[in-house]
Amino acid sequence: MPIVVDNVSYTYAPGTAFETAALSGVSVTVEDGEFVGIMGRTGCGKSTLIQLMAGLLRPSSGRILLDGEDINARGYRRDRLREKIGLLFQFPECQLFETTVERDVAFGLKHLPLPAGEKEERVRWALEAVGFSFESIRHQSPLGLSGGEKRRVAIAGVLAVKPKILILDEPVASLDSVGRRDFMRLIRRLHREGTTIIMISHDADILGEYAQRILVLDRGKLRLAAPVKEVFKDIAGMEALNLDVSRPRKIAHLLQKKGVPFPQDITGYGELLRAIKNLREGCLIS
Ligand SMILES: Nc1ncnc2c1ncn2[C@@H]1O[C@H](COP(=O)(O)OP(=O)(O)OP(=O)(O)O)[C@@H](O)[C@H]1O
Ligand SMILES: [Mg+2]
Repeated sequence: MPIVVDNVSYTYAPGTAFETAALSGVSVTVEDGEFVGIMGRTGCGKSTLIQLMAGLLRPSSGRILLDGEDINARGYRRDRLREKIGLLFQFPECQLFETTVERDVAFGLKHLPLPAGEKEERVRWALEAVGFSFESIRHQSPLGLSGGEKRRVAIAGVLAVKPKILILDEPVASLDSVGRRDFMRLIRRLHREGTTIIMISHDADILGEYAQRILVLDRGKLRLAAPVKEVFKDIAGMEALNLDVSRPRKIAHLLQKKGVPFPQDITGYGELLRAIKNLREGCLIS
């Protein structure tokens, strides 16, 4: 189910004093099963782009195609879009409004043609996937939860629908380090099981570890769309866009500068550790 963004521009409040051109002439395709990261400075249009992809905003010009169909065309079954694309907003804790956690997570399943037992199973699965005990959390009010807990409930609500494409806007921003690790493990599992992941993040370490391809937006324009290794290799190019590369990439670069023969296509901590291990083994042999 590829998403094609075809020459899309978007302007907020056109024709008013608040008119803001958020995106201009963006074209990119996200293929089935990809893990794509979106980077860019604040206000560059990242959230606007994913809301267009999810069909929540309509392009001012250009088209968004899902599986070859224009999602904004007359007659397109937009009600089916929610089953295909799950979107987690930048501040998802504000999305919770039901009286219990269970009802909140089940909300997106209301219109799906599933037997009631299957719906409860999905809610249980989704809440357990984000680290809750179903029985202890199901009857609680979402309002009484901490910020991080609310975020996990909101994520469960998106997961319960089991969308083929999962779009996440800064999902780890307010989680603590254990919460981040657990959340990213879950996303990696979903990706391995075939879900397409599109994730906005300011955290280059996370994208360096998990993303396959990076899109870089800059003042409403798509500047780069390339494999993460290629994008992070060019540290100066990223600096010119006021963006950071991951710390493992920086460490690899520093080691090379100090004369240590070290691979330069490292973007994640796992790869960094393997390269250090290879280096040590190389030293022991020689
Ligand atoms: N509802 C809105 N009405 C008017 N302008 C908006 C609206 N939402 C966003 N904008 C403007 O559109 C531009 C792009 O905003 P967007 O939220 O897409 O950026 P972003 O890259 O997600 O930023 P951040 O990293 O801060 O989340 C910004 O100039 C922003 O001020
Ligand atoms: Mg945003």
